[in-house]
Amino acid sequence: MLSEQFIIEAKLKRDKVADFSVFPFNLSAVANLDNVRFDPSITFFVGENGSGKSTLLEAIAVAAGFNPEGGTKNFSFSTHASHSDLDQYLRLSRGIKKPRDGFFLRAESFYNVASEIESLDSEPAFAPKIIESYGGKSLHEQSHGESFMALMLNRFSGNSLYILDEPEAALSPTRQLTMLVRIKELIEQGCQFIVATHSPIIMAYPNALIYALSETGLQAIQYEDTEHFQITKQFMNNHTGMLRNLLAD
Ligand SMILES: Nc1ncnc2c1ncn2[C@@H]1O[C@H](COP(=O)(O)OP(=O)(O)OP(=O)(O)O)[C@@H](O)[C@H]1O
Ligand SMILES: [Mg+2]
Repeated sequence: MLSEQFIIEAKLKRDKVADFSVFPFNLSAVANLDNVRFDPSITFFVGENGSGKSTLLEAIAVAAGFNPEGGTKNFSFSTHASHSDLDQYLRLSRGIKKPRDGFFLRAESFYNVASEIESLDSEPAFAPKIIESYGGKSLHEQSHGESFMALMLNRFSGNSLYILDEPEAALSPTRQLTMLVRIKELIEQGCQFIVATHSPIIMAYPNALIYALSETGLQAIQYEDTEHFQITKQFMNNHTGMLRNLLAD
């Protein structure tokens, strides 16, 4: 089955921006942004540290109705307001169908999501505990990678929108391959993914739309043309030679 497209495009309301010299509008990725179209299945943002991937991803997630701190749309906790107001300058074009569920994974705030699940579950309620859908074991009692896999395998489900910032951070190469298999299952069940990543394994997902963020803005590129693919390949093909050059006195 083809994935339903929940988010088709994000357009920057450039006429509303008062000053392109201040954050976040001064980032090349934002300053040069007109609109960004999304793949119905999976779109990647790649680029150097500080190129603006998280800023853009977070604004898209908030404009799509997620809490800037991450989690499902039902979570409305806030620990500190660190997000930019870029979401207010984005106009999202949405598909006809609404996502049934979704998750915004902020690389640095997964701990807060785990804490929120525990605190919601500690209150008396007739509904099943939320943690049951995360594999039954407290996410705090699982390793970073284990808890993320529990989330993907137990909580992620069909017809949903997933916005993930560096999901590979917790995962071994083997688990990253498992993640690709899970992404395929979810896409076949009608999910849409928007993912910021540095992982040459994750971004290898077949037929994905990859945007590279650079000084010139956002550019759609082929997987083999990403710096991640080329540098990793060069390194793997000749790591001793490359290290010798790199570390030579
Ligand atoms: N609140 C803020 N005020 C000013 N500048 C900020 C703020 N938050 C982030 N920045 C800057 O914006 C730039 C983009 O940050 P962002 O986190 O979006 O980059 P990134 O592409 O996700 O990087 P990484 O790959 O390291 O995660 C960085 O140079 C960062 O220092
Ligand atoms: Mg980031």
